[in-house]
Amino acid sequence: MDAINKIIQELQKAAVQVANLLQKREVEYTHGSNSSGDNQLKVDILADKLFGNILSEIGIKGFASEERESAVIFYDNDNMYDTNQEIPMQSLLVGFDPLDGSSLIDSNLTIGSIFGIYHSEFIGNKLLCGIYFLYGPRLEMVVARDKKSLHYLYNYATHTWDFIQEFALQEKGKINAPGGTQKEWFNGHKKIIEGFFQEGYRLRYSGGMVADLHQILCKGGGIFSYPATKDSRKGKLRKLFEVFPFALIFENAGGEAIDGQNRLLLLDTKSIHETTPCFFGSKREINKIIEGYKKISL
Ligand code: AHG
Ligand code: MN
Ligand code: MN
Repeated sequence: MDAINKIIQELQKAAVQVANLLQKREVEYTHGSNSSGDNQLKVDILADKLFGNILSEIGIKGFASEERESAVIFYDNDNMYDTNQEIPMQSLLVGFDPLDGSSLIDSNLTIGSIFGIYHSEFIGNKLLCGIYFLYGPRLEMVVARDKKSLHYLYNYATHTWDFIQEFALQEKGKINAPGGTQKEWFNGHKKIIEGFFQEGYRLRYSGGMVADLHQILCKGGGIFSYPATKDSRKGKLRKLFEVFPFALIFENAGGEAIDGQNRLLLLDTKSIHETTPCFFGSKREINKIIEGYKKISL
């Protein structure tokens, strides 16, 4: 089994444990906040520990989590393995959001966990694999690697992850999922979003990016945006833990992922908690965003 498959297999075990944890009504907040300033729930910390423990034991180069100030690095010397070999475990880095959409737990809405597996460096163009788990009425997983985005369902009777489908977005969808506080939107952005509604797009937005993006993938297209806003010029969503994994998932599914102009996966990363404005969707909607943003001075 190759190193990436081994990591996926371990994450699957932890995700089943997280899904079980979420069955309890564990909605208490801690007194702490993470590096992005979000209040942490007890389950955010528990999920982070669970995934962190598993990732500490499989021999990867290191990991970084939304819930931890700094990256945890085990092997810091890239020369210690033979680069001609198939990708060795010690060269792989995992960036993850242990629970995404955790503020929706109290209302029992769908939340998720997001992972990116990077080769040697935490940057978008070294992302080899993007994964998310979805804790909804069903436990599901999506894995993007080797130019494909594959969708699986966990079977509690057989303890297996059964293949459902390969995602393939159409040229155009019907869903508009506009993130960010509207009061803080720039006028140009507002016009683009309203333009979609005037064309007949329907609002579908839960406030958890895993569920919102999953819906677009399952329905075959649409647009999700989390823009630069007046109070947050670099957006809210984190490159390594949220944005890059979904960018790969959308590109592999035949869609696109941009920051308004540029491909997200080509963006530079200077620190692990960096954020970026982001747009994920099918080709027609992304072209509309690019055209619209060309006319905007933020
Ligand atoms: P997290 O729960 O990991 O902090 O992430 C929540 C994210 C994302 O899922 C969602 O799209 C976005 O935050 C919503 O944020 P606001 O409600 O603050 O706009
Ligand atoms: Mn998140
Ligand atoms: Mn989170």
